[in-house]
Amino acid sequence: MGSQSILVAGGAGYIGSHTVRLLNSEGYKVVVLDNLVYGHRDAVVDDEVVFVEGAVGDRELLRRLFKEHQFEAVIHFAAFAYVGESVTDPLKYYRNNTAEPLTLLEVMAEFNCQAFVFSSTCATYGEPRRIPLTEDHPQSPINPYGRSKLMVEWILEDCDQAFNLKSVALRYFNASGCSSDGKIGEDHNPETHLIPLVLQAAQGGIKHLTVFGTDYETPDGTCIRDYIHVEDLATAHVAAVKHLAGGGESVRCNLGTGIGVSVKEIIDIAEEVTGLKVPVKYGERRPGDPAQLVADPRLAKEILEWEAQHTKVRSMVETAWQWMSAPHGGHFKE
Ligand SMILES: NC(=O)c1ccc[n+]([C@@H]2O[C@H](COP(=O)([O-])OP(=O)(O)OC[C@H]3O[C@@H](n4cnc5c(N)ncnc54)[C@H](O)[C@@H]3O)[C@@H](O)[C@H]2O)c1
Repeated sequence: MGSQSILVAGGAGYIGSHTVRLLNSEGYKVVVLDNLVYGHRDAVVDDEVVFVEGAVGDRELLRRLFKEHQFEAVIHFAAFAYVGESVTDPLKYYRNNTAEPLTLLEVMAEFNCQAFVFSSTCATYGEPRRIPLTEDHPQSPINPYGRSKLMVEWILEDCDQAFNLKSVALRYFNASGCSSDGKIGEDHNPETHLIPLVLQAAQGGIKHLTVFGTDYETPDGTCIRDYIHVEDLATAHVAAVKHLAGGGESVRCNLGTGIGVSVKEIIDIAEEVTGLKVPVKYGERRPGDPAQLVADPRLAKEILEWEAQHTKVRSMVETAWQWMSAPHGGHFKE
């Protein structure tokens, strides 16, 4: 149980909002800071949670919040995460994902807040040389999005050296699923993630699902990814906060199940779950899509005492479908 005060930057987004609910239910005092560029005010559902609309780079606002709340830790989800856009507009990504957090880190140092949990990504590894990926796999990202995140990992290492800021960088694999009680879920616009797109195709919301590449060196020729349920990501963040509150050292951990699932398998499961046909168009490979990305999640188990509870991708598809087939159609009000 925590009675600590936590600042959650980007807490109105997909993964952030699920984590905020869990933190709140565990007794943490939560303040969400989100500029709502992509997030949804309605995704922050608990009355006890303080919501502040604003940007991570707003120094005066941060100072006011740190003065008012004496945060013991910061969880930082706030970022842009569209890989394609990061290639065409890299500066937007380096500004928001790499530069803006500097202000946050500076204000943390000013107020002696020493614990930082960071949303990193498997995209920091680049093209895998071996599967599953362990944390010591070379990090050689192949797009500005991945680089914008890796740079923050480096910055955090330097801050630890220089003034003892302790951090947990969590390298998520493919976040998926929605809250089990159907209250909140994934509502990205535009949506680029496979499971919601497969379900949108089943529903008729989009004409068809495009499968990019069927000639990969995988058993069925389609790409294999490690899907991790958003509620498991939430528990990992709470574990990371506890690790740091207990005096734990800085660490970088993969968050995945360790199980690879192909695009074709997801389509089959979606058809079973929805009872609907998924219209599919087979397209060319996309540049920069590795055949497989699968985590070795053992370090998170060893250090954070965390492991995924949802090990079957079916439960991710089911919860996503519960959210999308509700009367609101998987969308928050605004
Ligand atoms: N979804 C995934 O599969 C995945 C995988 C790996 C890493 N990540 C990382 O996890 C984090 C959360 O991902 P998500 O899918 O929940 O994304 P999201 O877009 O739903 O959430 C991000 C939130 O941050 C807010 N935000 C962005 N820039 C901000 C700023 N400068 N100031 C204040 N708020 C800002 C947005 O409005 C949004 O609410 C991101 O950092 C992303 O890069 C996501």
